[in-house]
Order: sequence, then C-alpha cells, then structure tokens
Amino acid sequence: SGSPLLDPFGRAITYLRISVTDRCDFRCVYCMSEDMSFLPKRDLLSLEELDRVCTAFVEQGVRKLRITGGEPLVRRDIMSLFRSLSRHLDTGALDELTVTTNGSQLARFAQELAACGVRRVNVSIDTLDPDKFRRITRWGDLSKVLQGLDAAQAAGLKVKINAVALKDVNEDEIESLMHWAHGRGMDLTLIEVMPLGEIDGLRVDQYLPLSTVRQRLEARYTLHDLPDRTGGPARYVQVAETGGRLGFITPLTHNFCESCNRVRLTCTGQLFMCLGQEDAADLRAPVRASQDNALLVQAINEAIARKPKGHDFIIDRNHARPAVGRHMSMTGG
Ligand code: GTP
Ligand code: 5AD
Ligand code: SF4
Repeated sequence: SGSPLLDPFGRAITYLRISVTDRCDFRCVYCMSEDMSFLPKRDLLSLEELDRVCTAFVEQGVRKLRITGGEPLVRRDIMSLFRSLSRHLDTGALDELTVTTNGSQLARFAQELAACGVRRVNVSIDTLDPDKFRRITRWGDLSKVLQGLDAAQAAGLKVKINAVALKDVNEDEIESLMHWAHGRGMDLTLIEVMPLGEIDGLRVDQYLPLSTVRQRLEARYTLHDLPDRTGGPARYVQVAETGGRLGFITPLTHNFCESCNRVRLTCTGQLFMCLGQEDAADLRAPVRASQDNALLVQAINEAIARKPKGHDFIIDRNHARPAVGRHMSMTGG
C-alpha cells in the first residue's frame, strides 16, 4: 500500500527471504558441520504467523517472497503457506513467490508449487557425479534430486541451478554443469563460499574465487554481460556457445551490497537485515502481542532503519573462525 521501505542508504527493500526451517535432510560440507544442533520446534513461528509477517511486508511494499531453509520442503504442511501466500499474487500485490530448495522433495511438491503460482524454483546441485554428490551433501541421493528436476520442468516451473564453486571438488566440472544446465533450458548460477558458521574444516580450503572461474571460462567461451532480471545478487552473462545464461554470485571478489534490496526472516521470527552481520530484530514478540499489525509494522520499520551498509566477509588463513556464528541454514542465504 504505502511507499516502499527505504533503508538508511536509500535502498528500497522489495524482497523478503523467509527461512521456514533451519533443518535440512542434507549436510553440505560448506554449509553445516556433520553434528548440528537445530532450533527447538517450540520456538518456531507457526505457518499462520509466518503468513502474517509476510503479509505485513507485502503491505509495506515488498514485491518478491522467496521461501528458503534449511530445506523448506521438509517443514510439515509447508504447502499451506504457499497456498495462503498465493493470494497476494492473485491481487497483484506480489510479483513473485519463489523457493530455493535442495530438490530432494521436489518430485512430490512440484505440481502443487506450480498450482500455487510459483513460476521459478532454484535448485542446488554442485556436481553431477553421484559419489561426489554424496560426499558434498554427506548422504544426499543425486538421482532423487534429478527426479525432482524432471517433475519441476514437467510442471512448467522454470529452474535455476545453484552451484557453490569448490576448490579441487567441482572446479573441473563447471563447464560440464553449464552444458548440462543450458541443454535443459536452465540457468546456472555459481556461488562463492561464504564464511557463515563453523563447519568441519576450513572455508579457505574450499574457497574458489569466481574471478578465476570467469577468466578460465573466457578463454574458451564468449560471455556477454546481461542486465539484471531477477532482482537477486547474481550478475548474469549470456554464453554465446550454449545460448544459455550463467550467473555469478561474488560476495568475496565483487561485493554487490550497494544494490541490496532484501532482508531475511528466520523460522523463529528474527529479521536479519544483512546476511553477513549478526544484528537481528525480533518480530515474534510483536506478532504475538496482538492480532493488530501496528506493532509489527513499527518493528519492521525500525529494523529497516538499521540495515547496515553490507557484509565484511573475509576468507583467508588469518580468519579461520567465521566472523558470523550462525549458519546459512538459519537465514537461507
Ligand atoms: P533469484 O535471483 O531470484 O533467482 O534468486 P537468488 O539468486 O537471489 O536466490 P537463491 O536463493 O538462489 O540464492 C543464491 C545464493 O545467493 C545463495 O547462496 C544466497 O546465500 C546468495 N545470496 C542471496 N542474497 C544474498 C545477499 O544479499 N548477500 C549475499 N552475500 N549472498 C546472497
Ligand atoms: N556459502 C555459500 N553458499 C552456501 N550455501 C549454503 N551454505 C553456503 C555457504 N557457506 C548455498 C547452498 C544453496 C544456497 C541457498 O546457499 O548451496 O545453493
Ligand atoms: Fe541443506 Fe542447503 Fe545447507 Fe545443503 S546447503 S545442507 S541442502 S541447507
């Protein structure tokens, strides 16, 4: 309804990412430690409360919602949240309702997602080698994820593949991932490892700068820069040889904070104004204080007013401990 939310740096906040659970059925080695403790279920916002927060943001001018996790499709009855949020697509208040998933449950949910007005899904696949996939995810079954992709495309969903670029692990596979994705009509986005939460091992040993990857690709392919289409952080190129789109998410080698348009809600109602900072605002208390949204809207506006300029991620041998203690699975990226 009103004018869009503006942060102290003049950035309009039009994109809310909602992590509906911190749990996941995989344990990707760059994301989690093998032995993780998860939030107690009693601390979670109910799906109705999540809907109320999302709706308050939509009323404050947010145009894009992305459901994330952990793995969002493992949350019980999650489709009822998609169904209720889809009313904002019907009224035109919302441009996009999307989801980022590991794909393990997509075969089951693809049809229903499409029926709720979801048009695009982002699916994480770092390798097409089943053994390597199991090593990266610690026990994930690639064939189930590929069945999920088939179901998504059969349901008419546009699919973007996310791959974290991992030194010595999948760097030899980036070209084949790209040919595979583009051959199936899917965009591929490469992501730099980010230092969020303790893992087994060091991110400096996993980190592959995408500036290096891009240079290697430019020796073999013609890359044409494209304007942003999704309002996400990726910078896209068109690859002349494949005709497909390739995205680069480069928090380390090319900071994109100045165009940040998003904030993120956790499953317990904490609002993080930046992926790379510890500061969060509690929205659970105002949601629960009254059925009226006035307190909630006030809390949202106060939170946006303290959105920081950006992250200060560093990955090197002198920064073995990640500066941000929480894992990506808390905020869904
Ligand atoms: P679309 O552009 O809508 O397709 O989505 P997206 O790329 O924004 O979302 P997705 O959930 O697929 O996220 C891909 C990667 O981008 C994840 O690793 C996120 O952690 C990362 N990402 C998303 N937003 C931010 C951000 O504000 N800062 C940083 N550093 N990374 C982000
Ligand atoms: N750094 C970069 N990307 C990460 N992801 C999970 N943890 C990290 C991390 N520490 C990715 C997942 C998924 C997306 C939501 O975030 O692989 O594609
Ligand atoms: Fe799960 Fe995604 Fe983290 Fe992998 S990256 S453990 S699939 S939340």
